[in-house]
Amino acid sequence: MSSYEARFKVWRGDVEGGGLEDFGVEVNDGEVVLDIIHRIQATQAPDLAVRWNCKAGKCGSCSAEINGRPRLMCMTRMSVFTREETITVTPLRTFPVIRDLVTDVGFNYQKAREVPSFVPPPGLGPGEYRMFQEDVDRSQEFRKCIECFLCQDTCHVVRDHEENKTAFAGPRFLMRVAELDMHPLDAAAEDGLDRKRTAQDEHGLGYCNITKCCTEVCPEGIKITDNALIPMKERAVDRKYDPLVWLGSKIRRRSS
Ligand code: SF4
Ligand code: SF4
Ligand code: FES
Repeated sequence: MSSYEARFKVWRGDVEGGGLEDFGVEVNDGEVVLDIIHRIQATQAPDLAVRWNCKAGKCGSCSAEINGRPRLMCMTRMSVFTREETITVTPLRTFPVIRDLVTDVGFNYQKAREVPSFVPPPGLGPGEYRMFQEDVDRSQEFRKCIECFLCQDTCHVVRDHEENKTAFAGPRFLMRVAELDMHPLDAAAEDGLDRKRTAQDEHGLGYCNITKCCTEVCPEGIKITDNALIPMKERAVDRKYDPLVWLGSKIRRRSS
């Protein structure tokens, strides 16, 4: 086993302010950035605050920015960096810092609450739902989300514009609206809830200019922009400007 000493800069501070602190720390074969943060905690800075749970890329809690890029610390191998490189670890920039690498991601829970949940089909009880695999194939990809909020952190609509946070749900929750809109059994429309309209009017779909930065950082490889946001934009526009779609929705509403 070979080991070497790496140079790390880790952001330390709290809501009042802070800065980067330098550390020289041992690295062994096969380690990930979270191992090194834990070693710093164990040997040099016992009060260094860091959030993590699974160390397997599944709980979504160890999100941070490594050399400026939003990543999971537990899934970032030290071998992707050269031994000479200084590795900088900072908290997610889009959310308020609590302490050191821990941020307050409450914005995301608030946005989650604003998306109306699945509406069960009338007349069917739990256990009676039947769907064809081909009808759920498209939205199943979105269920892989681990809620790490890296996509929310990287999206420039809120990253540099705090003022947009009220009107914009962010890629993760626009994807949730798309998932429900594609759900073969969701009866929201029958209940008078037009998910395409709410995506546009209430969750800020129009702010997204399909830069695909969210897709690039998703550790689950979900094609957020291509498979959720763009199709939903197309459907929202169809609904608004296509006279046949508009007429169809009027007729359906009148006959129901
Ligand atoms: S594609 Fe849209 S949601 Fe994703 S980062 Fe770009 S602007 Fe944000
Ligand atoms: S869509 Fe991807 S990047 Fe966004 S919260 Fe889910 S897993 Fe994380
Ligand atoms: S510790 Fe769970 S995703 Fe990193």
